[in-house]
Amino acid sequence: MIFHVLTLFPEMVKESTSHSILGRAEKAGLIQINAVNIRDFAVNKHGQVDDSPYGGGAGMVMMAQPIYDAYQHALKQSKSPTLPVIYLSPQGKVLTQQKVRELSAEKEIMLICGHYEGLDERIIEEIVTEEISIGDYVLTGGEPAALVLIDAVSRLLSGVLGKEESHQNESFSHENLLEHPHYTRPPVFMGREVPEVLLSGHHAKIEEWRREQSAERTRRKRPGL
Ligand code: ADE
Repeated sequence: MIFHVLTLFPEMVKESTSHSILGRAEKAGLIQINAVNIRDFAVNKHGQVDDSPYGGGAGMVMMAQPIYDAYQHALKQSKSPTLPVIYLSPQGKVLTQQKVRELSAEKEIMLICGHYEGLDERIIEEIVTEEISIGDYVLTGGEPAALVLIDAVSRLLSGVLGKEESHQNESFSHENLLEHPHYTRPPVFMGREVPEVLLSGHHAKIEEWRREQSAERTRRKRPGL
């Protein structure tokens, strides 16, 4: 999958995706991060990409033209003219695992990272197909939100996680249940013992215990799920 990311901080995006599982996925060609620097499309030689808001008020607004030109530049590198163009914004629909699953079926996605007070409304009307928020709080810019989305989508792509089944069983994948607790060596840590059933070798009982734990945790920790 190709992620085209329109950003004022391309290094932040490239650097953050170059480690661990995403770094390996990129090396293996499973994902590609095309970070496009909006400032390269600035309206003047001072690299201006923002201006004060019409009507007055505090803060700056990102100008439409540099974003539009960065978008056209990314489109030229894309084979999917109808790709989703997502603006990361606290005004968007809150990202869910269901939405992540839907996005993982795309071949390419374009992500727009805002700063300051946000984007000129007209660029949103002109090119954005959906607005997505990563939660009900406000970030200093869209990059961390784009990275969250890239991470959550990438790990669903075939071959990105080590074992194909390693995300079959986990929190939210299975009937909106949280995952059961996990334990590894040693059998006793600070006086806390691993639940006996996990040491029993009785696979059916272990499965049953894990299912019960899943249900109990979901009720207790995330009743809204
Ligand atoms: N930009 C600023 N805050 C954000 C949020 N909560 N989600 C997505 N993008 C944002």
